[in-house]
Amino acid sequence: MENTNDTPEAKLSDVNELRARARQEVSQGAVTPAYGADPEKVCELLNVALATELLCALRYKRHYFMATGLASDSVKAEFLEHAKQESGHADKLAERIVQLGGEPDFNPANIAKKSHAEYVEGSSLREMIYEDLVAERIAIQSYTELVRFLHEKDPVTHALVREILAVEEEHAEDMVSLLQGLPAEH
Ligand SMILES: [Fe+2]
Ligand SMILES: [Fe+2]
Repeated sequence: MENTNDTPEAKLSDVNELRARARQEVSQGAVTPAYGADPEKVCELLNVALATELLCALRYKRHYFMATGLASDSVKAEFLEHAKQESGHADKLAERIVQLGGEPDFNPANIAKKSHAEYVEGSSLREMIYEDLVAERIAIQSYTELVRFLHEKDPVTHALVREILAVEEEHAEDMVSLLQGLPAEH
């Protein structure tokens, strides 16, 4: 860039430069020369997040169907809602991976291997909720690290991951409330 003064405007490209760069490697679609991260690395990280979301959706489904007893109605509703939301997160991550030129990994054999969170069935309502809380805390930690990693490098993935992180924090809080509201015998 010829313009060397330090104002933020100095970082903006001339319109002709923008147009010329947009015409380079057009097959890369959304990934332009302005992209600040390594798209392959970002896709690899997003595939780990995808595996975590898919595994969490399955674990919540299992917990939804297995939750029994008088105290279970509100807990079941929460499990089902979370299962749907984790599945929605998985879809958004898969969509972003494709935009970045990668391929979302839905191979069942890879999901448990790649996922940060674990698939714990749990033998009581309390154990199920506890394990879901632990899994949410794992997701919160990895998304927080991902937010830091993506900062300024990839604003769209950054925004998506922040949005998902906010929901995982709500999920963790939901699990804490359920644990606190559970009668002692569960
Ligand atoms: Fe999620
Ligand atoms: Fe969650």
